[in-house]
Amino acid sequence: MSIRTGIEQGILTIEFDRIDKKNAITAAMYQAMADALRAAETDRNVRAILLLGKPEIFTAGNDLEDFMQRPPTAGEGAEQAPVFQFLYQISHATKPIVAAVSGAAVGVGTTMLLHCDLVYASDTAKLSLPFVQLGLCPEAASSLLLPRLVGYQRAAEKLLLGEAFSAQEALEMGLVTRVLPVAELHDFALQQARKLAALPASSLRETKRLMKAGDVAAVEKQMADEGTVFRRMLVAPEAKEAFAAFFQKRRPDFMKFE
Ligand code: COA
Repeated sequence: MSIRTGIEQGILTIEFDRIDKKNAITAAMYQAMADALRAAETDRNVRAILLLGKPEIFTAGNDLEDFMQRPPTAGEGAEQAPVFQFLYQISHATKPIVAAVSGAAVGVGTTMLLHCDLVYASDTAKLSLPFVQLGLCPEAASSLLLPRLVGYQRAAEKLLLGEAFSAQEALEMGLVTRVLPVAELHDFALQQARKLAALPASSLRETKRLMKAGDVAAVEKQMADEGTVFRRMLVAPEAKEAFAAFFQKRRPDFMKFE
């Protein structure tokens, strides 16, 4: 399955566990995460959620082979593809989410952080949003939330060029909460999740809801707009060239496209 989940002492842990493929996320993995988040909403045993990768890597983002073979694009119900279910659940989660990011956090590995509450990154973390480099467009409402969070020009540099940036830069931009040595990251994130689990759940829920209430409709609309464009671009020649280039270990050639 490549996603490990477990509930202990009030904390639902969701962990990427596909290190041989750099924790790249397949449709089955999105489905497992969406299901775990959905179940957590009504599970009284879950008081906080902890999202983990491996010390070497958080996630290489969407599994590109999966995207090529089974793009969540065609026909009725495309909006219900596992990736979109996951984005819906994480963006509507009412319980607090703590993320621990170490190594690369590519694409959705970074955009999902915009929906987490406490984001801890190791000093080895490298975030990136290479949607344009892949012939795609942003998702997870990142085209709305990132400019709002960090300012248009800084968001434009990250989203248009798609180059990786450090945990320290992410901290300065306000995208992560704190940077820690990699050896301390997971323990620290767990301690913070334990603190949340011990607090009054109703107060946490209402506080999170109040902080986000003004954005809910705009985030939903942006995600729907992004989803429409994303599904179209996923099967367009530019994305096909980008994916093929990745697996052929060569540079993509976009100059042949208008
Ligand atoms: N989808 C599918 N497979 C992936 C993957 C992805 N997103 N990212 C890595 N892999 C696979 C590689 O194909 C390789 O498989 P192989 O051993 O069978 O050849 C394996 O994971 C190791 O990847 P590799 O690129 O050799 O590791 P690296 O340490 O040199 O680089 C990354 C790590 C994450 C920087 C690099 O793999 C990468 O850029 N991945 C693509 C990220 C991406 O574009 N994601 C989509 C965002 S929307």
